[in-house]
Amino acid sequence: MKFFIDTANLADIKEAQDLGILDGVTTNPSLMAKEGITGEKNILKHYKDICKIVEGDVSAEVISTDFDGMIKEGKALAKLNDQIVVKIPMTKDGVKACKYFSENGIKTNVTLVFSVGQALLAAKAGATYVSPFLGRLDDISTDGLNLIEEIRLVYDNYLYDTQILAASIRHTMHIVNCAKIGADVMTGPLSSIMGLLKHPLTDIGLAQFLADHAKGNQ
Ligand code: E4P
Repeated sequence: MKFFIDTANLADIKEAQDLGILDGVTTNPSLMAKEGITGEKNILKHYKDICKIVEGDVSAEVISTDFDGMIKEGKALAKLNDQIVVKIPMTKDGVKACKYFSENGIKTNVTLVFSVGQALLAAKAGATYVSPFLGRLDDISTDGLNLIEEIRLVYDNYLYDTQILAASIRHTMHIVNCAKIGADVMTGPLSSIMGLLKHPLTDIGLAQFLADHAKGNQ
């Protein structure tokens, strides 16, 4: 399972990268705004800075909602670095843009996916990644994990190459459950990744080992 971090915060990206388990980064316009990154020039520079920290794929989202705008923007983003994956919304123009990019060797991540039908369209349009938002489904009392499971089934039925990128991860159990289902990738905040480290018995056991070692050396 690939681990992506879902943030535009450079310190968080560095921390996950330093742990040695990071495979990529996803961002979105809200995450960029949260870091105070505004204006085209600054946004493009920020993507370049992220690419310098990580070796894997970095999703950069288009703001345009029409086909021509998405193509223009996506091409400019893809030119920044080979690591860039053009993130496109699941709309009619988004599906058309996804098809165009996949035919032109540009990696894509179809975002804001909330149903199996949408995921099927993304795969047929040749998306590199599809991003079902499980946390946002959970937020409205709908089973987000069930969606990941159903997309897995459909993609396996037809051996689609599109990778399931479980997005809108909120906590460690989302990651664990996505791994059980067989999501290809998960993207979550640093806290959800670091949460995987925690177990009280690890802390208790380590404290005991160190105490016994110290006694033996007295
Ligand atoms: C996906 O790529 C999105 O950036 C993200 O996972 C959305 O998460 P949220 O629902 O926590 O905003």
